[in-house]
Amino acid sequence: MYKIAVLVSGSGSNLQAIINNIEDGDLNCKIQCVISDKPEAFAITRAKEKGIDTYVIDKREYKDELSDRILSLIEGKVDLIILAGFLSILKGKIIEKFKNKVINIHPSLIPSFMGNGMYGLKVHKTAIEYGVKVTGCTVHIVDEGTDTGPIIMQKVVPVMENDDEVSLQKRVLEEEHKALSEVISLFIDNRIKIQERKVFII
Ligand code: GRF
Repeated sequence: MYKIAVLVSGSGSNLQAIINNIEDGDLNCKIQCVISDKPEAFAITRAKEKGIDTYVIDKREYKDELSDRILSLIEGKVDLIILAGFLSILKGKIIEKFKNKVINIHPSLIPSFMGNGMYGLKVHKTAIEYGVKVTGCTVHIVDEGTDTGPIIMQKVVPVMENDDEVSLQKRVLEEEHKALSEVISLFIDNRIKIQERKVFII
């Protein structure tokens, strides 16, 4: 059975979508564990309700050792790491050992509205203020940078004239929930091929 680790920091609606898709038989994998860098993340409650193993590696406590600590929990136990609203930056050995096996979901069409400090409602507020007509979400490979790895999938969401950041976030999240599971499925079926910055679905 294909095994995944899901890393979270917040509400965990993307985690919930993965759980629902597994339960509905649309995603053929097991969530080996859910790891949060924040003790208060509601995602941890969602995982516990389903009997999934959970770990809190508080970033305030572990600081620069956070990535190595996470690696020690999952090395040899999972096939893919999913960053689903995980706000810490992974560094060092975990990126080498899981090269091209760590994916992130970002709530914009990268390379717009990405990088340090660009998360949560701020992404959508900035998109509206800029006046873009479409935004969306991006699932990408995680490398050493922030939101810089090869793009696997993007879904487009129109920006309406009466949108505020909350209404836009809600519609983008609906697409995120689909995109993340679609990409996990492609990994399970071994259909992802990466050549430098380009990702081919074979
Ligand atoms: C999502 O918008 C995701 O793209 C971003 O953080 C948010 C997490 O939402 N990386 P949730 O915790 O899955 O509800």
